[in-house]
Amino acid sequence: MIEPDLSENSIRILEARYLKKDPDGNLIETPKDMFLRVANNIAEANAIYDEPVDKTAEEFYEMMAKLEFLPNSPTLMNADNDLQQLSACFVLPVEDSMDGIFDAIKNSALIHKSGGGTGFSFSRIRPKNDIVKTTGGVASGPISFMRIFDEATNTVKQGGKRRGANMGVMRVDHPDIRDFITSKEDEDQLNNFNISVAITEDFMEAYQNNEKYELINPRTGKITGLEDASEIFNLIVEMAHKNGEPGIIFLDKINEENPTPEIGEIESTNPCGEQPLLPFEACNLGSINLSKMTEGPIGEAEINYDKLAETVKKAVHFLDNVIDMSEFPLDKITEMVQGNRKIGLGVMGYSDMLLKLGLAYNSQEAVETAENIMGFINKKAREASHKLAKRRGPFPNFEKSIYEKEYRNATTTTIAPTGSISIIAGTSSGIEPLFALAYERHVIDETLVELHPIFAQIAEERGIMNDELKEKLASQSSIQKIDEIPDDLKEIFVTSHDITPEWHIKTQAAFQKYVDNAVSKTINFKNNASKNDVKEAYELAYKLDCKGITIYRDGSRSGQVLTTKSSD
Ligand code: CDP
Repeated sequence: MIEPDLSENSIRILEARYLKKDPDGNLIETPKDMFLRVANNIAEANAIYDEPVDKTAEEFYEMMAKLEFLPNSPTLMNADNDLQQLSACFVLPVEDSMDGIFDAIKNSALIHKSGGGTGFSFSRIRPKNDIVKTTGGVASGPISFMRIFDEATNTVKQGGKRRGANMGVMRVDHPDIRDFITSKEDEDQLNNFNISVAITEDFMEAYQNNEKYELINPRTGKITGLEDASEIFNLIVEMAHKNGEPGIIFLDKINEENPTPEIGEIESTNPCGEQPLLPFEACNLGSINLSKMTEGPIGEAEINYDKLAETVKKAVHFLDNVIDMSEFPLDKITEMVQGNRKIGLGVMGYSDMLLKLGLAYNSQEAVETAENIMGFINKKAREASHKLAKRRGPFPNFEKSIYEKEYRNATTTTIAPTGSISIIAGTSSGIEPLFALAYERHVIDETLVELHPIFAQIAEERGIMNDELKEKLASQSSIQKIDEIPDDLKEIFVTSHDITPEWHIKTQAAFQKYVDNAVSKTINFKNNASKNDVKEAYELAYKLDCKGITIYRDGSRSGQVLTTKSSD
């Protein structure tokens, strides 16, 4: 049995948050034990279908121990423990009533405790100052309720392993939309929320024609007034430019691809935006490490499509088993999850893979490679899901779905941020570019410079590595102005600061083209980017059929995680 080969950072994060501990806090498993625990637990689901368990457990173990595929954190943390809650993503409905609102708060607390993140649409809550019949008073409006969700999240720290994370969504035609858009202008507010405005096609039409659009009171269904579409669009842009919030999601586009419209309408995503879900639905994610899917020397490697195909097949099997092994805090969630059986297979290590292939992130070849590779993964994932359907039956809501061909899962692909699992795998996160080529690490009274391993290897081979260069690398996030680095390396080793928003968006769109769900991606801007730059990015994301967009202008928020919006 192979031994996992883990970096120091990986071991550190596993020890802090993933490995089992006794009641005194002493570690009682090794990383290898953890992979075995997870593999054995997830393979057990085979027994439900009279399929052999042991061989599958070995396959699952190998794939994880080789860091070729990892499931989302709750699966690694909770498989075969008391919780057995294995999904990262949930969406809960928020009804327009005291009961409904506080039910949602209670349910989200239970989900946070188990390591999952929750998304909500606040669009159904009546606007502030609207009538409350039972008390004869006036409504306080959705934003004030969001603050209670935020406070509850603060209090539940997810068992010390993960901070609670929420997504708050509001339709652009809600009468309180202005308050929502500016609700995070003050950086101290709603810290446990990412917020997104749900943009409709009617709104986009009004925006493109320079017209007004209708605001609708969700309680009465009546029009309460008109808003100027450009003004609202500009307000969103202004706030996002200021500190990255709100993001936007293209809700009608998302619902056009809703695989089970008869079961319900999609109104929100999970916290980092990559997983649109129906109310009460959950989804478990897993990611293939693309940097392990190449062969050949660095700079001239090629994608090993046979290995990738095999990995996709095993990963789909794994993620489908996770559904059977998961236990949820609410029966309603179990019912929804087992009805649609959504899974979200994605990738991490994309930019490390590009370095191995010798391609610059900001190049047409890279974008084409992204399309090819994700097209391949999506096709193979569907094939695997179809084969599982033949063996295990299609997902129960299949007859009510948009599909003609039988699948085991209503969706198969999602690009997650992989904030933690990419550290465990020792690779670049999700589909994000590198942030820097060297990082400083403070160990007791020493500062160590840690180099990006692929760059370190190349620099050694080329004989350009020395202490002086290391210092320079650690002090700047781009290598473009370092004289001793040859031009051909500068071209390939680009970091997110060197990449224009257009290339970020083109990359997101290339992946989105072949992803059932959505793509987690931050579009990074330089600090001096203008509001107009942000506006153009939003328009481009719409034009290129992205399902949403999240931007971040360098230095615009103090203490914000830069590469992903996850709150790890
Ligand atoms: O790497 P890992 O599997 O831990 O998570 P991720 O890919 O960074 O995030 C996937 C999803 O997990 C997020 O979109 C959230 O739904 C959820 N999450 C959370 O609830 N709390 C966190 N602190 C981080 C992620």
